[in-house]
Amino acid sequence: MVPTMGALHAGHVSLVTETKKHAEHVVVSIFVNPAQFAPHEDFDAYPRTLDADLAKLGDAAAIVFAPTAREMYRHDHATTVTVAGGPAAGLETDFRPHFLAGAATVVVKLLIAASPDVAVFGEKDYQQLLVVKQLARDLALPTQILSAPTLREADGLAMSSRNIYLSAKERAVAAQLNVILKEAAALAATDLRGAEAAGPQALKRVGFERVDYVAIRDSETLAPIMSLERPARILAAAWLGKTRLIDNMAI
Ligand code: PAF
Repeated sequence: MVPTMGALHAGHVSLVTETKKHAEHVVVSIFVNPAQFAPHEDFDAYPRTLDADLAKLGDAAAIVFAPTAREMYRHDHATTVTVAGGPAAGLETDFRPHFLAGAATVVVKLLIAASPDVAVFGEKDYQQLLVVKQLARDLALPTQILSAPTLREADGLAMSSRNIYLSAKERAVAAQLNVILKEAAALAATDLRGAEAAGPQALKRVGFERVDYVAIRDSETLAPIMSLERPARILAAAWLGKTRLIDNMAI
C-alpha cells in the first residue's frame, strides 16, 4: 500500500514503483485527511486532483482507494492514535501539534482497511516515517513499513504537493532550502551546534520569512545528539509566504 493525500507527483509514483518490488498488487489511497490539519492550516486549499491522479497512476495501482471524509470518520469518531514521545517528540510536534497524531490515526485506519503486506512511506516526511514505524512496532501491526528516498526537482527542491502554492519568486528561493541543508550538514562534521544555528540564519538571508527548525537528530530515533558517532539526519521546516516547506537528509 502507498497511502497518499493525492495531488500525485513523480515522488508518489516512485513510492508505487518501490512497493512493486515487494508486492504483486499495489493499493494507493488518496485521502486529504482532515485530522492532520489544524483549523488555521491549508486543508481547504490543499490540491485535489483525482482525475489527474488516476491518469498518473495508470495501471500501476491495482486498487485506488479514495474514500470521503465521512467514510473514514463517522460523525461520532472519537479515537486518536498518538505516538507519545519517541520519534514524535519535538520537531513537527512543536509547530504542528495536530499533524502526527492525525496522520498516525489515518494510517492505522488505512492499514487496517487494506491489510497490506507492506506499506511504503517517503523519506520526505522523515518524522512521519519514523512515527509510522514506531506505531507499527508498538501495535504489532502485520504490515511491514518501508521507505523510499525523496525525489527532487533538478535544482534540488524536494517534490511536494504543496510546491504548487509557491509564486515564481518563492519557487526560486525554495531551492535554497536543500542547498543550505547540505551546507549545514557539512558544517556539522566539525561543529554540530554551530550548524543548527547557521541553518536558520542562512535561510533567512536568502528570503525564508520564518524558520520553524533546523535540527540534527539521531536518524533512527530522532533523539537530540551531542556528536556524530551514530548515523544522523538534518531536518528543517521553514516558511516562504504562506507555504511551509520541509526537507531533510542524511548526514
Ligand atoms: O504523507 C502523507 O501524504 C500523509 O501524511 C499520509 C501518510 C497519506 C496520511 O494522511
